[in-house]
Amino acid sequence: MTVIIRNVVELRALVLGWKAAGEVVGVVPTMGALHDGHLSLARAAKAECERVIVTIFVNPKQFNNPDDLKKYPRTEEADAALLRTVGVDVIFAPLPDEVYPSGFATVVSVSGVAEPLEGALRPGHFDGVATVVSKLFGMTMADRAYFGQKDWQQLQVVKRLVRDLNIPVWVVGCETIREADGLAMSSRNARLDAVARAQAPALYAAMMRAAQAVRGGQAGALEACAAEVLAAGFDSVEYIELRDASTLGPAEGMERPLRLLAAAWLGGVRLIDNIPV
Ligand code: PAF
Repeated sequence: MTVIIRNVVELRALVLGWKAAGEVVGVVPTMGALHDGHLSLARAAKAECERVIVTIFVNPKQFNNPDDLKKYPRTEEADAALLRTVGVDVIFAPLPDEVYPSGFATVVSVSGVAEPLEGALRPGHFDGVATVVSKLFGMTMADRAYFGQKDWQQLQVVKRLVRDLNIPVWVVGCETIREADGLAMSSRNARLDAVARAQAPALYAAMMRAAQAVRGGQAGALEACAAEVLAAGFDSVEYIELRDASTLGPAEGMERPLRLLAAAWLGGVRLIDNIPV
């Protein structure tokens, strides 16, 4: 049975009981508006943990744009129905006051890996993510936490944070789930109109070609990728960059794992994607 819990005291009482029985607890942090990508995280957690908590909390601190926060889809009933089909134990869906009670004064800020790309373009975003994720780890006391590789930089920020603060949780990064045409699943895809939705897969297709060109040592692969994305109908490209896969610093040679990461606007929607190189 899946129960919905809104307060930390109740959640912790349940989790402490599980832990006393020696059960491994997994958490999947989400902001709701669940799609198959999230469900694949929940299924991965179910496969590896005796108990699974999915958190649903639209975290105001990670939105640098108030309009984006207002527009963020809130679909708790549909989300709960989906999570029941997966058989998760708890949906932890706290209200903002439960997470940020009056007097809340702490910011968790990760430097280095959180600074370039999304960090530079969305000031305060990763502080908000790092703060809420630290809280969710503390509140759920989970042993394992599941994040999608779709938000690659976020995943590296969370790994850094867990290492730096000795948080006793094992972070699992799960493969990006894609639509049949290659578009990475995202809650934002629902905002694409029919024309934009048809154009959207061009980002991943261009990135795949660019990754191959980089592997083949071709010069100008990233510029060609950006041009291809714009030619396919995207309004603008914020970045298409090759980076060190774990530090997100400059890619130096091909010795360390590299990641190609991109953010681009299409029909008023900001899409991000990333692939290994
Ligand atoms: O990836 C997300 O949905 C959010 O950034 C997260 C990890 C749930 C924190 O609010």
